[in-house]
Amino acid sequence: MNIDQRPGPATRINVVVVAGARPNFMKIAPLMHELREDTRFAAYLVHTGQHYDEAMSKSFFRDLGIPKPDFNLGVGSGSHGEQTGQVLIKMEALLKERRPDAILVVGDVNSTLAASLAAVKLQIPIAHVEAGLRSGDRTMPEEINRILTDSISTWLFTTEPDGDRNLLREGAKPEQIHRVGNVMIDTLVQNLERARQLNPLEDLGLKPGAYGLLTLHRPANVDDADTLDGLFRALEEIHHELPIVFPVHPRTAAAIEAGRGGIKPALQTTEPLGYLDFLHLMANAKVVLTDSGGIQEETTALGVSCLTLRENTERPITVTHGTNTIVGTNPDIILSETRKILAGGAKPGQIPELWDGGAARRIVDVLVRDLGGEL
Ligand code: UD1
Repeated sequence: MNIDQRPGPATRINVVVVAGARPNFMKIAPLMHELREDTRFAAYLVHTGQHYDEAMSKSFFRDLGIPKPDFNLGVGSGSHGEQTGQVLIKMEALLKERRPDAILVVGDVNSTLAASLAAVKLQIPIAHVEAGLRSGDRTMPEEINRILTDSISTWLFTTEPDGDRNLLREGAKPEQIHRVGNVMIDTLVQNLERARQLNPLEDLGLKPGAYGLLTLHRPANVDDADTLDGLFRALEEIHHELPIVFPVHPRTAAAIEAGRGGIKPALQTTEPLGYLDFLHLMANAKVVLTDSGGIQEETTALGVSCLTLRENTERPITVTHGTNTIVGTNPDIILSETRKILAGGAKPGQIPELWDGGAARRIVDVLVRDLGGEL
């Protein structure tokens, strides 16, 4: 259908898509693409502004061709209460005015929960993408965001079978749960060739397969001086055997600046990287060391070894099927597990079912079926 012949907004399915922080952007990219291509939808994008600067937000919109947000709530940084409260207040006003048929939220950041709370009180149904993940650790702010968002969502789109089981155990109805795969892997599949054509390694003086890639930003790791110091000292030791490149998250930069992890780590630090450069670095790394959630999944999809610097994961399929090993924050274990990989003992992995680039389409098909369009 020619765009001019589309039904008017009143007869289309009106969906408000919400994104706020860096890990949301690669998840909404394929969803916005599918929704905007499908003439049965009028999809509006709301950026809460939880992340806002060039490196944490704007570069992702550019790299991934995400349309300019229709609304920017501009909430910025703040405490959990401030951030959640600001998004709640501003989303409520916006939803009252637009009255969409549904809102679509992704992941587990404060913006995800706050937007969902605003919607549920207005009886606007919520579609939660990446539902059901549980670390079992309620000290993680994301775990609270996941549990609460899932408990008020109408559609629960899951990435792995454990997600389905967790939701059923917590009382979700089977018909709410749709295992559709992983939208973040849609983005990876779509951009891997482009990323491979870049060459960020040259600028960094690194050779493919001959470096480790590190990310650290969890409050439990970077806001605790002893933990951060232990991590840095172990990683510095590894750096003598295998160069470690470390794009530093702003939270971590602030911790280092405040002297929290002892002296500045003697690693190859960089500013936070854009999506494509980071994907290139992941795809060519000997090992990725991380406390991120999404990177555990991306390395599994790429078949690259991942050591997770946390005591638990909400993404167990990356351990049971993928290349991920949970190593915690004990320096001795981090060293021995890294050396095992360097000695050729990397664990092989498989790509989980439905992590195939088609998750966003499957989500949109469910929404069409349930919101009244025809497939
Ligand atoms: C948030 C998410 C976390 C996600 C992470 C990815 C919650 C509870 N946490 O944590 O799940 O893994 O994003 O990055 O939602 N800052 C900037 N520029 C920005 C944004 C933030 O410099 O564009 C700085 C600010 O100093 C801010 C700090 O980073 O205080 C932390 O940002 P915040 O959004 O509070 O939490 P993250 O640690 O990024």
